[in-house]
Amino acid sequence: MSDLLEIRRLRVSYHTMAGEIQAVRGVDLSVGENEVVAVVGESGCGKSVTARSILRLVRRPAGDIKSGSEILFRGENVLSFDKKRLRRYRGGECSIVFQDPLSALNPTMRSGRQIEENLRAHSGISAAAARAEAVELLRRVGFDDPARRARQYPHELSGGMRQRVMIAIAFSNRPSLLIADEPTTALDVTIQSRVLELLRELQVETRASIVLITHDLGVVAGIAKRIYVMYAGRIVESGSSEDIFYHTAHPYTKALLASVPRMTMQSKLPLPYIQGVPPELIDPPSGCAFAERCALCMDICRREEPKLTESNGRHSTACWFETLPGTDGGGLL
Ligand SMILES: Nc1ncnc2c1ncn2[C@@H]1O[C@H](COP(=O)(O)OP(=O)(O)OP(=O)(O)O)[C@@H](O)[C@H]1O
Ligand SMILES: [Mg+2]
Repeated sequence: MSDLLEIRRLRVSYHTMAGEIQAVRGVDLSVGENEVVAVVGESGCGKSVTARSILRLVRRPAGDIKSGSEILFRGENVLSFDKKRLRRYRGGECSIVFQDPLSALNPTMRSGRQIEENLRAHSGISAAAARAEAVELLRRVGFDDPARRARQYPHELSGGMRQRVMIAIAFSNRPSLLIADEPTTALDVTIQSRVLELLRELQVETRASIVLITHDLGVVAGIAKRIYVMYAGRIVESGSSEDIFYHTAHPYTKALLASVPRMTMQSKLPLPYIQGVPPELIDPPSGCAFAERCALCMDICRREEPKLTESNGRHSTACWFETLPGTDGGGLL
């Protein structure tokens, strides 16, 4: 079975006064039908730029999806869609939920109307039917009084409620693919888990695929079937959730995991964090981008970029320590 979404060799740059920021530096990523995939990594590693590229929301002239990049949706190249095809794709077949619903929603339009507009943009549904469907969608995302909520403006809703409205808009046309870019980061912890549960329920119900983007590995544990770990514009490890959590290969993934709070931790000890900072993407290093922060760094790591190499099944890692014969992968961090 071919994948729903296949990204090949994606490279995206931003042209700035300071120079060309190589935000995404050759990402390969695939999402199957009815699959939840997570993309995890620290701030600035290129997660949102990847997400925006999938929907072709990287704005020229500053943003530049480099030639040679491919984004295939059911085998069709998204990067060569004409305007009409792109309109059908965005918000119809593929939609996105952003971290900050307040800036993503239209502040001058009632929440119900925003759902209706998306419905009507993608089908010949009547105004009355769209209104009824919008209320039904608000009920489905957890509002007890959906008709009243439909008449409210975004500023009249709490952060969690606004995120539910965003999710209702995103699911309104039953997309095959939903990109959720840090959908819970702006919410407090209890609301976070309810919003994640809702996403999961809707995913099961509509059989959509989800790309869940987050900087927090703890968030994806129970949801994602496969995980891509990103660092400095590249994928450094990918595999099933089990591979990533229990057979962690890359030192960066190990460090990310160590910084996830656990129930068993002693509360007085500070949470470990990853020392140092990611490299500048205007002038990325020629070797491994994580080398300067890695406890296992060897000479070759600073000289040559390790390739993403498959170790077993679909578990891949880009680390010299893991792939060179004679080195004993893992265990030290
Ligand atoms: N519009 C832009 N103009 C210039 N540089 C940009 C722009 N958008 C992103 N970048 C740069 O691209 C790199 C990747 O940014 P991106 O937003 O994808 O990070 P991220 O992984 O989503 O981080 P976060 O967790 O903070 O959301 C960063 O170095 C960022 O500064
Ligand atoms: Mg982001």
